[in-house]
Amino acid sequence: MEHWIAPSILSADFSRLGEEIRDVLDAGADIIHFDVMDNHYVPNLTIGAPVLKSLRKAGLDCVMDVHLMVKPVDRLIGDFLDAGADIISVHPESTEHLHRTLTLIREGGASPGIVFNPATPLTVLDEVIDLVDLVLIMSVNPGFGGQAFIESSLDKLAIAREIIDDARREVRLEIDGGIKADNIRLVADAGADTFVAGSAIFGSDDYVATIAAMRNALD
Ligand code: DX5
Ligand code: ZN
Repeated sequence: MEHWIAPSILSADFSRLGEEIRDVLDAGADIIHFDVMDNHYVPNLTIGAPVLKSLRKAGLDCVMDVHLMVKPVDRLIGDFLDAGADIISVHPESTEHLHRTLTLIREGGASPGIVFNPATPLTVLDEVIDLVDLVLIMSVNPGFGGQAFIESSLDKLAIAREIIDDARREVRLEIDGGIKADNIRLVADAGADTFVAGSAIFGSDDYVATIAAMRNALD
């Protein structure tokens, strides 16, 4: 599967969010990773569906990869579907009925994704692999940008890769947390094809050079 680089808006300048997104897309980003936090499921607060809706209204038609870190999650799914999310990923801990939540996303016309925290075992993946288009492995504890990559995520990626390959479906394997040009090759070798990077991209002075360095490391 083609490699996708997904800048996380968490580290963008929120006062110029639309412009920041256009800049990273012009610099070679493939999709935009939209982190939604509620200060309940994770100890931080970001933005909600009205912001996504405004970005769509402003003409941004890129793939929006929405990572929901909110609990309970179901009520907000309709809002993000309406706002124009393409991919909506949820944590199993954020819903009482994961099958229902993933089905809500699919029936609403978006691609469902499932997210695993560093300490969450992959056990439910076998049960839902036929329902998802994306598996996201967290390589930091969710809530903040700029944290250090947790090495054990490499083993987890490799196991997720096997489960996806056995399912013989087109499912993306995404990694999120502490990704930079100098470790992106390592996570690709472990099986990832979609790479979230927040601080590494938005914290750099030159988006073109940073994304090119990531792409070079992958090629
Ligand atoms: C963390 C978010 C990430 C975050 C990654 O909870 O899910 O998407 O922005 O930030 P970096 O790339 O700085 O580790
Ligand atoms: Zn994220």
